[in-house]
Amino acid sequence: MKTIASKLLDWYDRYHRILPWRVTPAEQASGIKPDPYQIWLSEIMLQQTTVEAVKSYFTRFLNQWPNIKALSRASQDDILKIWAGLGYYSRARNLKACADKIVANHDSHFPQTLEGLRALPGIGDYTAAAIAAIAFSKPHAVVDGNVERIVSRLFCIRIALPAAKKEIWTHTQAITQHNRPGDFAQAMMDLGSSICTPKRPSCFICPLNDSCLALETDEPENFPLKMPKTEKSMRTGIAFVALSENGRVYLQKRQEKGLLGGMSEVPNHFASKASKTDLSLAPFTGTWIYRGDIIHAFTHFTLSMSVYMADNLAESSGKNGWWVRTEELNREALPTVMKKALAKALPTAFKKMKNQSAREP
Ligand code: ADE
Repeated sequence: MKTIASKLLDWYDRYHRILPWRVTPAEQASGIKPDPYQIWLSEIMLQQTTVEAVKSYFTRFLNQWPNIKALSRASQDDILKIWAGLGYYSRARNLKACADKIVANHDSHFPQTLEGLRALPGIGDYTAAAIAAIAFSKPHAVVDGNVERIVSRLFCIRIALPAAKKEIWTHTQAITQHNRPGDFAQAMMDLGSSICTPKRPSCFICPLNDSCLALETDEPENFPLKMPKTEKSMRTGIAFVALSENGRVYLQKRQEKGLLGGMSEVPNHFASKASKTDLSLAPFTGTWIYRGDIIHAFTHFTLSMSVYMADNLAESSGKNGWWVRTEELNREALPTVMKKALAKALPTAFKKMKNQSAREP
């Protein structure tokens, strides 16, 4: 009888996705090996972000910095600029710290063990296992949300997440293919994104349908079991889009630590109950006109922010920031929440930029 791994790999050999960082089974057969730098970069980008959103960022990043030495020579600000729009900006800061550490301490080569990888900035258990399996063919279980879903269905695991994690990991390790662990991990990801989907899985074409206990005894869609979600908190805030007499926009840099650290922003205030109307918070005196509200969902809270604009300001007003021409805003490391605020104040200038930038998760 065929094992789960061999059924899955036969399916993967025929139906794998073509992805910019992926070395296909046919390419591997002709001697091409995955590049650890590219696998690492893609895995960091794919944390919390969809494959579709990552593709163009990955290609741009790789064109700019084709290897770990090149990335280590890059400035943090330049990295943040290319990262802008992908979200979860601590990843971009860790990318630079990790590249520096590999160049300084590992002779520019990625460590191949889980422990070695785990010791690097931005690499947790999942990412270490993914790099070790995909880049170095180590037979480690690679368990992301897709795999949790597939394995909880395959083995009909009736424990709710996150408590089920340990049991899911043990089952995944037991079925992981030792000859082709990287392809096995990627095949699970492809299966989870195309067939074993959260809603209405396509069990009738699944290569594992004759091994799936949930399909035999229950509704696969009921798995994984989850604890009820707590509701996200709501925050309020105010943003100020300042235009100079030359039509330039005032930006400043957020502090390095914390939410959106090191990114660019228009002056703003948001806390759990910051005012949406207090114009004394404005960075300069001027005639501030209300332009509308924006809503932005962060991971742990949703922000409702009022946007005000003033024009004809003297450029000598800005002390800590800088003034930027609207056509050049797309070169700035602006997170999506700030792009929304700018778009609310300057809808026409922003139409162009919107088409050029990708969406955050
Ligand atoms: N999600 C996380 N890592 C991935 C990968 N290597 N391929 C496809 N989807 C992924």
